[in-house]
Amino acid sequence: MKMHELAIARPLPDYVAQRLPTALEERPDLGDPLGVELLLKREDRLDDLGGGHKVRKLAHVVQDALARDADVLVTPGSVPSSQCVAVAAAARRHGLRAHLIYCGDHQKPPSTPSGSYLLAQLLEPSITWMEYVPWSRWQACVEAVVAREREGGARPYVVEPGISAWPGVLGSVELGLELDAQLHHDAVPTWIVAPAGSGGTCVGIALAGRLRGRDWRVVGVCIGESQASVERQALQLRREAARSLGEPELEQTKVTFFDGALGAGYDMPTAQEQEATRDALQRHGLVLDPTYMVKAWRGLHALAAAAAIPRGARVVLVHTGGHHGIFDMRTGD
Ligand SMILES: Cc1ncc(COP(=O)(O)O)c(C=O)c1O
Repeated sequence: MKMHELAIARPLPDYVAQRLPTALEERPDLGDPLGVELLLKREDRLDDLGGGHKVRKLAHVVQDALARDADVLVTPGSVPSSQCVAVAAAARRHGLRAHLIYCGDHQKPPSTPSGSYLLAQLLEPSITWMEYVPWSRWQACVEAVVAREREGGARPYVVEPGISAWPGVLGSVELGLELDAQLHHDAVPTWIVAPAGSGGTCVGIALAGRLRGRDWRVVGVCIGESQASVERQALQLRREAARSLGEPELEQTKVTFFDGALGAGYDMPTAQEQEATRDALQRHGLVLDPTYMVKAWRGLHALAAAAAIPRGARVVLVHTGGHHGIFDMRTGD
């Protein structure tokens, strides 16, 4: 079966399907100051918990977990992770348990839980804390927890960071196909900008554009890792998709990544990022979390200022969600 058939053939759970398609808003208030035609894809509206685009990816992953007779979803994340919330919520809905592993370079349990971490706690998953463990060691953290779960008789299923490993990336292909159905097909080249952690969301959208023969320039704005690192992960994902679907040419799908808006790094909001968050809220009523979307927003501004996105271009900014992260934001410093 070809990817485009596979992507639309899978039944989505009702709680996802009834929110689709997510709106594609015309936003001259956002685009005019940049000199572009800006459309805002509201993936943040896919759920009430800030999971956003991850809800689509999880729909495929949970089906896979159930088909493999798993009974616990294990996933690593950091304090602001909306993935942890989305996994814990999906587990509850599907009668599974979730086991969240909190780790990362400067991560420690918050003294007063707020934002996404509070939501995750309220869903009462199993939680293991591995404080100050570098994010590059997330795999070792997961292996330790999986081994413990197995010893206890459980059947764990690992949900990788970004939920982009196969078949999760299919959720982002669906997002791209949905977007394609919403855009006018007037041969206008279209820039699609989204935050990039694993790069999976951008890869999925780009795969959809390729399958539909569109002139899309998909640009991921790095939120934590360097351009080279995200490119490596994206290549892996493209290879995985090409292999899984028996369509080798998909490996060549073009996606670019931009790490000029990393600021001080993952979960280290700078004064400029806080100011951008405030500005988007005050001028546009737009909630951008300080970890993911604010970087995409600032990256878009930097790309437009450098004319890497030309004046007059049509740009789709994908609001991926994560907006409860704004409740973690510290002000006044
Ligand atoms: C709100 C939000 N946007 C974007 C991303 C990154 O998506 P991806 O891993 O597909 O690049 C994440 C997760 O890391 C996220 O929580």
